[in-house]
Parts: sequence; structure tokens; C-alpha cells
Amino acid sequence: MPEDRYEAGLCDALFGIFEGGARELPEIVAGLKESGIDPHGGGEWTDAVLCGELARLSDTPVKTRCPTPVRVEGGGPARDTGETGNGTAAASATAGHRVDDLLKLGLRNRWYGIAGSHEVTDKPVGVTRLGERIVLWRDGEGTVRAVEDRCPHRGIALSIGSVAEGNLRCRYHGVEVDSDGVVLRVPAFPECPMVGRKMIQSYPTFEHYQMVWAWFGDDAHPEPAPLELPEELTSPDWSGPLHTNVWKGHFQYVYDNIADPMHGSYLHGTTYMQERGTRVDRMKLAETAHGFELFREGQKETSFDWMEFVDTGSTIYMRAKIGFPPGGGPGGPLCIVFCVTPVDETETKIFAYRFRNVSGWRSDLYHFMYKHRFRAFMDAVLAQDEMALAAMPAWPPRENLYQHDIGLARIRRHFRGQAEAQAEALAAV
Ligand code: FES
Ligand SMILES: [Fe+2]
Repeated sequence: MPEDRYEAGLCDALFGIFEGGARELPEIVAGLKESGIDPHGGGEWTDAVLCGELARLSDTPVKTRCPTPVRVEGGGPARDTGETGNGTAAASATAGHRVDDLLKLGLRNRWYGIAGSHEVTDKPVGVTRLGERIVLWRDGEGTVRAVEDRCPHRGIALSIGSVAEGNLRCRYHGVEVDSDGVVLRVPAFPECPMVGRKMIQSYPTFEHYQMVWAWFGDDAHPEPAPLELPEELTSPDWSGPLHTNVWKGHFQYVYDNIADPMHGSYLHGTTYMQERGTRVDRMKLAETAHGFELFREGQKETSFDWMEFVDTGSTIYMRAKIGFPPGGGPGGPLCIVFCVTPVDETETKIFAYRFRNVSGWRSDLYHFMYKHRFRAFMDAVLAQDEMALAAMPAWPPRENLYQHDIGLARIRRHFRGQAEAQAEALAAV
């Protein structure tokens, strides 16, 4: 049997076995023996054969040890030398951020997801985050680097250039810049005073478990605070693929969307994951050490019934728990860890980890089933969110909130308070 038909058949068989309630290896193996699907290499299903096949067929991402909080050294805003004509626009723009800008383009002094690991290679790639144009690349050691996407010479995007010995080479006249934003060479004019100077902003970065983070400070906080990752990203007890995308719509709408479990019963009310449960309910909010949790009064672990907002002071993320129907197999509810990064005022980069409480063979099983079945279910749900957010007006909306909106009102209050504090701190610099 061709490999793709074998995998599809195995996935169907496992799905049916889970729907029948099996969760442990012996009962899954017993179900496979009755399914008519034989192991690809021949022979009989046993616990060891099944574990081996799941390890072979899944793309389970490797989670390396990652101490939290993580402290990352280096980076920071460019020093304006005054010898570059207009100086460094990013540094002065950073100093000019005020409350409205912070609410429009995102709070400063936070680590933000900047790209999925797969999006950064040894070729430069240009992205916009928090309204800033940034170029990312991997140096000779494979470490992700990030600097302002602007050649210090004439301002062209460095992302159309190339990587030379781990540094960036501008496409226009060949100026080379390192990962600290320091000019290394001006090949057409070697005695140029730019050589040896930090001319553009650099961003401290940190890569962990499929995702690249970058620190977005301000003039009051140029050095990164510790990155504080959620437990699901550091504990071996959780495993999940990362989905990332750019959505049309202001970033605040993405927070609003996640802080609004009730939309699950309507926007997603006919999907595999969220068709169950009641369509009338009330929301309850409980404060936590670094944010709040919000849940439906009338049901739990049935559909999208619980979410949490966390702002550690250096890192913002959200969790959403969505009950898995029986066909989901071991691992309990889906726990989505969301990180939201403004692109600009009109687009948002989303990072959605689709975690389950699995390790070992259960993790391989989940990733195998995800690849063949669950990813399509989950992508269909997020496509509906994407469609809804693209249909929202430019931020801010004209709206009339009601009881279900206590979560998004709470987040907006938080962001405004933080923005005011940051603007005040900047004014004192
Ligand atoms: S614009 Fe980059 S080297 Fe001239
Ligand atoms: Fe949704």
C-alpha cells in the first residue's frame, strides 16, 4: 500500500478507535488489530510497533530545555551619531511614542513573537512589526538576527540584499552591517566614517520551540527584561504545533476575539471543535496574578469555554481552552497559546500554539493526527476568525458592548493603563 494511503487509513482507524473511547496503548492496539490496517513494515500491531510508527510518521517538534525567565543580552536602540544626515529615525520615533501611538501600534517594553522559526533562513527576510521595518536572517551559527530594515547609506531595504559571512550586505552599493547594526565595510569607499559605527537599530532576539521573539524597548527601557514564557512552552508535559499567519485588522481586535468565548457558539457554531454546547450563557471574570481568566458560567471543556490573559510585564500571551470531541484521543482539551504582534495599524501577526497535555507516544500520536485531520479542523476555525476580523472597521470601532464583552473591556483598560505609564516614563527620560 502506498505510504499516503497507509497514513490516511491509519488516521481514520485511530479516529474511530478514539471515538469509541479508547485512550491507552493496549486498547488502541486492540482496536488496530480489528481495523484491517496492518503496520507498514508488516507483522502485527504491538505497543512497540505502534509507538515506532507514530514516531516515524509524526513531525513532533523538539522542545529543548529553556529556563524561564530567560535573560537575553545585547541589542538595544541605535545611537544617533549625528553623522548620517537625518540620524536614526527609529530611535527618535521610539522616543516620540505616546499613549495613542502605543494603543495604535502596540505597547513597548515587551517581548513579541516576530516570526515562526521556519520563516527565517540564511536569506534576509523583511517584516513589519509594531510599525517598524525589520530584517531577519540566520548567521553562520544559525542564530536568528534582527536589525532595522534600512541601509545606513541611502535607506534602501537591507532585506533585498544578501547574507555574507553571517552579516548583511546591501544590494545597492555593498555596504555591510552586522547584527548589532554596526557598519563593517563600505567597499566603494573604505575610509568612510560610517565604518565601525552602530548606525541602525538592532533587536535582541530569542528563538524557542518553533518561534522567534524580539524585544521592543523604548528609550527608558532599551535593555530587554527577562522573557517569561508560558508553562506550555517550557514543560515537557505539553506539546503542540505552531500556526502563524498575518491577519487583516487592528491587533486589538485579535485580543478582543480571544477574550470573547461566546463567539465560538456562533461564528464557529458548525465546526467540529465548537458545535457542541449551549448558545446562551453569561461570562465570569476572575483576576489572576498577571491578568485575568474569563469563563462561561454554563459549561466547561465543551467548546470554547475558558480563556486567560497574561501580561507578566515583559511578555503578553493568552490561553484559550477548547474541549475536544472524543475523536481527539488522549491529551484533554486543546489549549491554544496565543501571542499577538501588531504589524501596523491595519494588520496583525498571530501566533497560535495548538497545545495538548501530551508527552512521549501521546505527543507523537497527537502530531500524527494533527497532520492528517486536526490541522484542517483548526485551520477552518481560524479562517472564520480571520474573515470576521477583516470585516471589522478601522480601529477604534463604533460599538455597544454587553455582558459577554467584560473580557475585552478588561484588556482594553489594561492596555490603556500600561500605555499611560509608558508615556509618562518616556516623558521623564
Ligand atoms: S544604499 Fe545600501 S549601500 Fe548604498
Ligand atoms: Fe474564534
